[in-house]
Amino acid sequence: MISNVSSLSANQLALLATTFSAFLVDACTEFVVGSEDDTVVVGRTMDIFGNLGSRLVTHPKDASMGSILSDGSMGMEWAVRNPFVGIDAFGLPITTDGLNTLGLACSVLMLGESVYQRIPAEADARAQSINQLNFCDWALSNFDNVSQVNQSLHNGEVIVTLISVADFKNSLPSVSRILAVSDVVDIPSDIPLTSHYSLHDKDGSSLVIEYTAAGFKTYDNTIGVMTNDPTYDYQEKTLKEYLSLRNPNPVPVFDSLKPRDHPVVTTSQGLDVNMAGLPGDLSPNSRFLRTAVNLNTLIYPTTAELAVDAAKHIINAIEMFAGSVYQDPIKFGDTPDELWVTEWATIRDITNGVYSFRTYTNSEWKHIDLDDLDFTKGAPSVSVAVDIPDQRFDAVSMMST
Ligand SMILES: *[C@@H]1O[C@H](CO)[C@@H](O)[C@H](O)[C@H]1NC(C)=O
Ligand SMILES: *[C@@H]1O[C@H](CO)[C@@H](O)[C@H](O)[C@H]1NC(C)=O
Repeated sequence: MISNVSSLSANQLALLATTFSAFLVDACTEFVVGSEDDTVVVGRTMDIFGNLGSRLVTHPKDASMGSILSDGSMGMEWAVRNPFVGIDAFGLPITTDGLNTLGLACSVLMLGESVYQRIPAEADARAQSINQLNFCDWALSNFDNVSQVNQSLHNGEVIVTLISVADFKNSLPSVSRILAVSDVVDIPSDIPLTSHYSLHDKDGSSLVIEYTAAGFKTYDNTIGVMTNDPTYDYQEKTLKEYLSLRNPNPVPVFDSLKPRDHPVVTTSQGLDVNMAGLPGDLSPNSRFLRTAVNLNTLIYPTTAELAVDAAKHIINAIEMFAGSVYQDPIKFGDTPDELWVTEWATIRDITNGVYSFRTYTNSEWKHIDLDDLDFTKGAPSVSVAVDIPDQRFDAVSMMST
């Protein structure tokens, strides 16, 4: 292994380093479920090592937004055209998961092999540039649907550049005239948090956006699933190996053997083998395959409620609990904060504008109807920490003779 490393080029080593450090920070799964009444529901997990300190935050009409660049200067500045609600991280003004009032959903999911753009020398280029952590803020606040974002990206209207979380944090005091800055939570280390982006809209259009060594790419996400490394096209290609996994469950008899005296199988009980071979581990590719196959197997929901229920169960099939994934040489304690867990999960009913979330320590789903939020011009931005303590629902009081 050591001797192999010495033969790698500097570029390969840099890529390895990025991929490895990124792997320690963040993993996620995101998917879309439709229904016969044309509801579009997006489910998502935020799998993370450490504490994101996430809050759900409103961004009302005309609120000022801006994106800090890696040298500490302010890049693009704009006002919110389409109000939105989003979940932040580290107490920073960044949206990792959000939904706007027109039903555009955007998610940030780790892609360690990301390579972002350079800011060109032209004088006005900085005013067109954002950092990679603000991508969803830019998309949700400016656009009505997936196709509009896609066009803007292909027209080169935004330059997406790299900033580390630590540089972002250190630059905040100098730019606080633009951004509302709250208490910044401890950030594990000075690592670039690099991602690809997933967009969905009410028409059921889904797009993946990636910046890698191969350049800027968009993919029409026809599978409706995204996880982490490697890139989306790889994940999609591997899916064909699993096309045979489907219902109905096979009849549990080895027909070819026909051993009359020794029937191989006499009962179908406990033989639900139709998904045998589906990877059960938590690697990005396995989460992608499992989610895609589960969506394919799902009895297509007829209503929004059933689509939301389905999303809950598909999330359950890919979540991480304390101890399910961890990696040396980090020294672990025994609290969930120090291990990889599904820190929070969201379900966005983008058709009806309902945002639902739950956390590792409180798995009851909480719901926010976007219609109940004040997004009018001049309204304050309001927020709530997503880790709402468990209310411990008491069923005794509901019991009767
Ligand atoms: C996207 O939004 C734009 C602006 O509202 C609109 O002109 C366009 O028709 C929409 N496209 C689709 C595919 O819905
Ligand atoms: C995004 O734009 C590209 C290039 O114009 C196009 O091929 C692709 O179909 C578009 N995708 C969506 C979802 O609008």
